[in-house]
Amino acid sequence: PQGAKFETQIGEGGELHQITSGDSDVLTTQQGIPVFDDQNSLKVGDRGPTLLEDFHFREKIFHFDHERIPERVVHARGYGAHGTFTLTESLEEFTSAGILTEVGEQTPMFLRFSTVAGNKGSADLARDVRGFAVKFYTKEGNWDVVGNNIPVFFIQDAIKFPDLIHAAKQEPDRGFPQAQTAHDNFWDFISLTPESMHMVMWIMSDRTIPRGFRFVEGFGVHTFRLVNAEGKGTYVKFHFKPKLGLQSVAWNEAVKINGADPDFHRRDLWDSIDQGNFPEWDMGVQLFDDEFADNFEFDVLDATKVIPEEQIPVRIIGSFKLDRLVDNFFAETEQVAFCTQNIVPGIGFTNDPLLQGRNFSYLDTQLKRLGSPNFTHIPINAPNIPVNNYQQDGHMEMHARKGRANYEPNSWAGTPRESPSKGYKHFPSQETGRKAQVRSATFADHYSQARQFFISQTAIEQKHIGDALTFELSKVERVDIRELMVGHLLNIDETLAKTVATGLGLKSMPPKVKAAVETRTDLPA
Ligand code: HEM
Repeated sequence: PQGAKFETQIGEGGELHQITSGDSDVLTTQQGIPVFDDQNSLKVGDRGPTLLEDFHFREKIFHFDHERIPERVVHARGYGAHGTFTLTESLEEFTSAGILTEVGEQTPMFLRFSTVAGNKGSADLARDVRGFAVKFYTKEGNWDVVGNNIPVFFIQDAIKFPDLIHAAKQEPDRGFPQAQTAHDNFWDFISLTPESMHMVMWIMSDRTIPRGFRFVEGFGVHTFRLVNAEGKGTYVKFHFKPKLGLQSVAWNEAVKINGADPDFHRRDLWDSIDQGNFPEWDMGVQLFDDEFADNFEFDVLDATKVIPEEQIPVRIIGSFKLDRLVDNFFAETEQVAFCTQNIVPGIGFTNDPLLQGRNFSYLDTQLKRLGSPNFTHIPINAPNIPVNNYQQDGHMEMHARKGRANYEPNSWAGTPRESPSKGYKHFPSQETGRKAQVRSATFADHYSQARQFFISQTAIEQKHIGDALTFELSKVERVDIRELMVGHLLNIDETLAKTVATGLGLKSMPPKVKAAVETRTDLPA
C-alpha cells in the first residue's frame, strides 16, 4: 500500500529486516512457499559463508539471471498500446473477411511503434523509419499488418535485407553509431543500391523525426490482395492516417529532445492514453484491379514504388482508437510477435519479392527471440478465439489438448477437422515463367518516383531534405561515398544535388550516376 510505514527491525535471530507495514499478500517463492526473509541470505554464523541450502535466494538469483531475452534483430526499440478498430464501410464486394465487412464490428487490436536501427535502449528521436505494426484479434483469427510510417522500402528483394540492416546498424568493429543514417557503412550501402533512392527522399524528410507516435501515418507498404466470397481478387494497399494529423519536429528540436528525454515518444503515448486523450487513426484502402496494375507506370509488386493517391484515392473504411495501456511492458510490448503471414480468410498475398521474404523471416526470428514454438500461447500473441490443432509439446506448452487424438485424420468424436468451406484458401493465381533471378523491367527505374516525391514537397520541406542530406553525409568520412550520393541526386533533382554538394564543400560537381532507366519527368508532382 502507498504511504505504508517504514521501520528497520532486528529479528529474534539477529536478522536485519527493512519492514513496511500495512495490508499486503505474503511474498512467496515460485513454488508458493511463504518467504521468511527476502533481504538476508542464509549464512553460517556472523561472518561465515552463504549456504546453497537457501532455496529462495537461489531461485531469486536464478530467475534474475535469465530475465533478458534477445532484443529484436531490427525494430528493437518499441512501444505499444491496445485499442479497438471499428469498421464504418463494408468491403463485402471485395473481401469475405469479417473485420472488413461487418459494419460497426469492434475488433480488439494491439499496435507497436518502433524505430528500426537503434538498439533497445536508444533514443526515441533518432532520424529513422518508424515501425507501425498492428495485430487485429479478429473473429477469424489474428491478422497482422506489419507496416512502417513510410509507404515504400529501401530494397525490392528480401535477399538484400541482411545487408541493409548490417549497414544501417552500429558498425561491427566500433559498435557505434546507434543512429541509422549518420555513418559511412549506411551511406556506402545506399550509394551502391540505387533502388533505395525513393526511400532516401522520404527518410531525409521530416517524417523520420515525428513529434510523437500519435502523429505518424502507417502503411502496409506491399500490395496485398482482397478475395471476396466468389473467389474474385482485388489488389489492396493499406493506409492508416492519424486524426491528429501528420506532425514532426525540426532537426534541432530532435537533437535537444534526445538529450533531455530519450523516452519522449513513449512518455507522450503513455501520458496521453493515461489522461484519456486516446489517439485515433483512420484506416483506408487503395483498391485496384488487374487492368489498373497492367497499365500503371510501375510494377505494383515493387515495394519501392507508391501508387499515387491522385491515381487511386484512399478510401476510408473505419478507424481505430488506442485506449488501453499495457499492464506489463515486457509481457505485452516485448513479447508481441507480428508476422506478415498472419492473415485471415478474405485477405491474401501477392508476389512482391520483399513480402515473400518477410513471410519467411518473422517466424524464424521469433523462435530465436522467444525461445519456443509455443510463443503463440503467450496471451498477447494468442487469438481471442479457440485454437484447435494437433501441434503439441515443445518448451512451455500451455495449451495442451485434452483427450486421446493427436493426429489427423482421425475418427474420434469431437476432434477438430479441416474445413473446405470455412478454411483459409490461398488465392489460386496462375503462375508461369522460367526460373531466373529477374523482375519486371520497371523495377530498374530507381529515380522517377524519388523525383516525384521530392518535387511534390513544399519549399520548406525541400529545404529540410537538402539540410538533412547535407548533415548526414557530412558525417560520412569517405569523400568518394559523399560524391557518389551527389551523383545519384543528380538523377533526382539538379538543384538538390547542387545544394548538397555545396553544403558538403565538394570541390567540383561529381558525375551523374548512370541510371539503368532514365528518370521520368512527365510524372506530376
Ligand atoms: C520487425 C516492418 C521488411 C525482417 C519488423 C517490425 C516492423 C517491420 C514494423 C517490428 C514489429 C514489432 O513491432 O514487433 C517491416 C516493413 C518492411 C520490412 C514495413 C518492408 C516493407 C523486412 C524484411 C525482412 C524483415 C524484408 C527480412 C527478410 C524483420 C525481422 C523483424 C522485423 C526479423 C524482427 C521481428 C521480431 O523479432 O519479432 N519489421 N519490415 N523485415 N522485420 Fe521487418
